[in-house]
Amino acid sequence: MPAGAEAPNAGTRPLPVPEAAGSAASMLRFRCDEVGCVYESRSGAIHALQNVSFAAQGQEVVSIVGPSGCGKSTLLRIIAGLQPPTTGRVSFEWQGRAEPPRCGLVFQEAGVFPWKTVLDNLAFGLEMCAVPRAERVARAMEVAVRLGLNSFLYHYPRELSVGMRQRVDIGRAFVADAPLLLMDEPFGALDAQTRRVLQEELLAIWQASRKLVLFITHDIDEAVLLADRVIVLSGRPGMVLDEIQVPLTRPRDLSLDRSRIHEVTRHIWQLLEADVRRELSLPR
Ligand SMILES: Nc1ncnc2c1ncn2[C@@H]1O[C@H](COP(=O)(O)OP(=O)(O)OP(=O)(O)O)[C@@H](O)[C@H]1O
Ligand SMILES: [Mg+2]
Repeated sequence: MPAGAEAPNAGTRPLPVPEAAGSAASMLRFRCDEVGCVYESRSGAIHALQNVSFAAQGQEVVSIVGPSGCGKSTLLRIIAGLQPPTTGRVSFEWQGRAEPPRCGLVFQEAGVFPWKTVLDNLAFGLEMCAVPRAERVARAMEVAVRLGLNSFLYHYPRELSVGMRQRVDIGRAFVADAPLLLMDEPFGALDAQTRRVLQEELLAIWQASRKLVLFITHDIDEAVLLADRVIVLSGRPGMVLDEIQVPLTRPRDLSLDRSRIHEVTRHIWQLLEADVRRELSLPR
């Protein structure tokens, strides 16, 4: 198919029932116990995280907020098993075993494969799981429609805008349909309107698939809008300042829930403001 051609419409039927749905999901748990991370650098040791403990399970959406540089990405990489903690441990329980499940990852900087088309990028996780091509393509197209990428299925990442590349990265995690979704500021590179639409899309996809989602964001409103619980980290070294249960029911309604979201947001900002200013060396 030539570049720019519209792919066959995959329709808007609901996403397939994933592994995490139903009773199996309640068996997914993970916990961080006293996790710490120290990086050695030429200018000395950087204490990125200290004594971070929290747990998540089942179908929760947990947001993590904290000042820039407080170790959020480091924490996500440790939970994903991409780097070991310096101290403490991360443990999983999945389907009765003490091992991590497959996880979908969205990195802060879009991690798309430049040599693969949008379609092949989206289907990559399924390819790794040896899912037959026809099924991979069908599922990738379904997500492409939801993320507004279906006119670009046969384009390469260099032909996309930054925000579109980020959508491909997000879409790949959705298509892979893993029980655990780890997202590091997935909407950071998007404009405000796209961001809002994709926040609603993430809520809809979560509603259909009920994954355990860990979502890092610098946007406190977004953290509250999406999550059941918000973990607030201090400035570096990142320590848990508070865990806040979000008092909103699901499905969330952006227009109705605004004022309640704002109340929680204000509380979180009060916790964070001094550390954010310290990080930027600004007076209070
Ligand atoms: N590979 C590394 N080597 C040395 N220091 C690192 C490394 N990765 C991160 N750091 C340092 O660890 C600290 C935490 O970094 P991290 O990227 O985890 O923060 P963050 O909270 O994700 O920040 P941001 O909100 O800006 O994305 C920073 O001071 C950073 O300079
Ligand atoms: Mg980061």
